[in-house]
Amino acid sequence: MGNSIYSMIVGTGVGIPSRILTNKDFEKMVDTSDAWIKERTGIEERHIVEEGRYTSDLCAEAGLNALTDARLKPEDVDLIIVATVTGDVGFPSTACIVQEKMGAINAAAFDIAAACSGFLYGLSMGNAMIATEQAKTVLVIGGETLSRVTDYSDRGTCVLFGDGAGAAVLRPAEGNRGILGTYLKSDGRFGHLLHIPGLGTRYLPSHDTLDNHMHFIKMEGREVFKQAVMAMGDAAETILNRTGLTGDDVDLLIPHQANLRIIDATAKRVKIPPERVFVNVERYGNTSAASIPIAMDEARRGGKLQDGQTALLVAFGSGFTWASALVRF
Ligand code: ACO
Repeated sequence: MGNSIYSMIVGTGVGIPSRILTNKDFEKMVDTSDAWIKERTGIEERHIVEEGRYTSDLCAEAGLNALTDARLKPEDVDLIIVATVTGDVGFPSTACIVQEKMGAINAAAFDIAAACSGFLYGLSMGNAMIATEQAKTVLVIGGETLSRVTDYSDRGTCVLFGDGAGAAVLRPAEGNRGILGTYLKSDGRFGHLLHIPGLGTRYLPSHDTLDNHMHFIKMEGREVFKQAVMAMGDAAETILNRTGLTGDDVDLLIPHQANLRIIDATAKRVKIPPERVFVNVERYGNTSAASIPIAMDEARRGGKLQDGQTALLVAFGSGFTWASALVRF
């Protein structure tokens, strides 16, 4: 993409469920402790979707909040991209359901499935659609209800995940603000280390799939951890190299919020000190595709990311997929 800037983020918003599960709650459900969870992950609590609300509801709320922030209306949107691995139904896409819920009658809409990297895949796609003049106002949303696919009898995974949605509005760039570059990468050889085997067409629902909890997240935590540290470091370093910047040029690192130890390792790799790293994993757990847009919105509203400042966004997830973006706000 050279050094041209095509699109900029003009608004952000979130949709967060009000129910909260604390580490203490898990002590009553599985053999774990608040101390273990905090020490090994940094997580203290996570939000869980209310009965009767779905991924599309959280996404529509985030999308409408982002549009309000951008002083735009749903009718102004001409493309909705939803990144999710916990869509409402097999089809139609969650993006189409979100379009209907928002009243974004002039938009095209589609989903991206890249797990925790999904929002950055969506941001890259939205940027490309604006660069090629196929869209002017793009709503990129990352939203998940991981609680619906979490096995609350598996202590190795259940403490990690939470629900939520975050959104960003992209418009054609003005001045030197905008997306300076994006980097996407995948390695399908590692798919089996983090997956939901029983929610597609390979295994149709049966007593067997239910008895084996195949509709829930399965993860080899230790292996995923190792790969995540390497891939997040690679993504952070690559986008800096491509744009000719260093960690010193980054005002705020916003990494995918999965585990505090992975976040620390990523920051060290590109020599960004803790005071320039955004962390909210303690309050949300891992919300997959929603994690970066939720963090970005909190950073902006909390004054940690101001106009003119540069953020480095980095993610890693099932696939494996990993991605990064440099954005000047
Ligand atoms: N409470 C208490 N003990 C636990 C728990 C728990 N909740 N979970 C696991 N343990 C135990 C294990 O059983 C094991 O016991 P053993 O030694 O008797 O066998 C011990 O703790 C150590 O287990 P490890 O898996 O080695 O623990 P680790 O320090 O690696 O932490 C964790 C586990 C937190 C899951 C970590 O591996 C991790 O964060 N992995 C990466 C997850 C991730 O980042 N995913 C990102 C992508 S997510 C996406 O795409 C949706």
